[in-house]
Amino acid sequence: MSTPPLASGPHGPDALRPLLATVLDALDAGARSRRGPLPAGGPDAVTARLAHAVGDILPTDGDPHALRTLVHALAEGSADPAHPHCTAHLHCPPLAVATAADLAASALNPSLDSWDQAPAASALETLVTRTLAALAGLADALVTTGGTEANQLALLLAREAHGPALRLICGANAHHSLPRAAWLLGLPPPLILPTPTGTLDPAALHRALTTRPGPHPPVVVAATAGTTDAGLIDPLPAISALCRTHGARLHIDAAYGGGLLFSDRHRPRLAGLDTAHTVTLDLHKLGWQPAAAGLLAVHDPHDLAALHHHADYLNAADDTDAGLPDLLGRSLRTTRRPDVLKIAVTLKTLGRTGLGALVDQVCEHARHLADLITAHPRLELHAPPTISTVLFRPTDATDATVAEIRRRLLTDGRAVLGRARQDGRLWFKATLLNPHTRPADLTALLHLVEGSTPT
Ligand SMILES: Cc1ncc(COP(=O)(O)O)c(C=O)c1O
Repeated sequence: MSTPPLASGPHGPDALRPLLATVLDALDAGARSRRGPLPAGGPDAVTARLAHAVGDILPTDGDPHALRTLVHALAEGSADPAHPHCTAHLHCPPLAVATAADLAASALNPSLDSWDQAPAASALETLVTRTLAALAGLADALVTTGGTEANQLALLLAREAHGPALRLICGANAHHSLPRAAWLLGLPPPLILPTPTGTLDPAALHRALTTRPGPHPPVVVAATAGTTDAGLIDPLPAISALCRTHGARLHIDAAYGGGLLFSDRHRPRLAGLDTAHTVTLDLHKLGWQPAAAGLLAVHDPHDLAALHHHADYLNAADDTDAGLPDLLGRSLRTTRRPDVLKIAVTLKTLGRTGLGALVDQVCEHARHLADLITAHPRLELHAPPTISTVLFRPTDATDATVAEIRRRLLTDGRAVLGRARQDGRLWFKATLLNPHTRPADLTALLHLVEGSTPT
């Protein structure tokens, strides 16, 4: 075999062109043979089909058709977030333009741990992070692999500002990554307040902040703007006021709801976001980016000094003194992909209006689905949607039936619905993130559920 061509350099584009044609053909053919939003047959069937298609993954001699074979197999066996019946998670269909930009990021392969690996990419990252931080009313932002890493960094910055006795207070509605980050960082066990209404109750928070035993240890309160299970927004202004009164630090996890910032119609629901010390944003949710596209925005850029780190081969003091940007403190990672390129391309291609229109569309789809459920004689709606998540269940069904219908639809590969427990009952969760979904798709989704419901 001759030496395989490279993706960059003078021959990169010519080498990539036919390979891209192969990828696009295989994506198309794979999706056609899948037919629905998910491969049919469940885990054993999918694993067997994949193993059969792939064969020996490390053969003695290479296989020139591996690209076609593997892309086809992956597309055939994928959960396709662009299918209107793929609605389980905050798993968005990426925009074509963002995905194309991501190819350029892979081809150029800048690494954002030192300026000499990413001269323009690091400058672009500065532009984009400042712009997105300003959109949220904060000063600066770090790029992360998603909401989980952003929440971890938020607690790390809080611990560095207030010391290791720092206690996390959050609602039971908070993302699981927050208590997990407290564990990872060696913080005291978090205080998790029950959230029977789905959002953090300011009265319960007030009690928690005023009835702490002994000399008050420092506290970071984590509120959520867009809960994972129901897309609810905690009462941010009231929580922010309590934090200010009681000297608590405030983190807001807006991994989901942060996308509302693009919409003139929906942005006011995030009032109070700009008062947080740190805010998690995540554009691979309500931002139509291929993963990963997370951010942690900070109010006080001085907080980021805690992440400063020295490694002579990356940020030698004399290089920094001579004007080479010191990038190592912008992440806990070392080698780091320029995820910012696809974000930048999306922001500039669509503008705030274009992105806001996508946000408005998916919120409108959620309202329409809720109306269909309300009008349906055999379905129950949990509550009118706040963002683009709709919880519903067949009237009078048991939790076991709800779970069974969901698994049946998954196994048949006909619909991908999520599950969420609210009010002590299990609900189907439809997280609508596809702006191309049509009203008829939503009607068909309810028919699928009805058709799988035992009579
Ligand atoms: C509110 C919230 N925060 C954080 C996360 C974690 O984000 P990621 O999966 O990108 O790490 C999620 C994921 O769904 C989420 O819903």
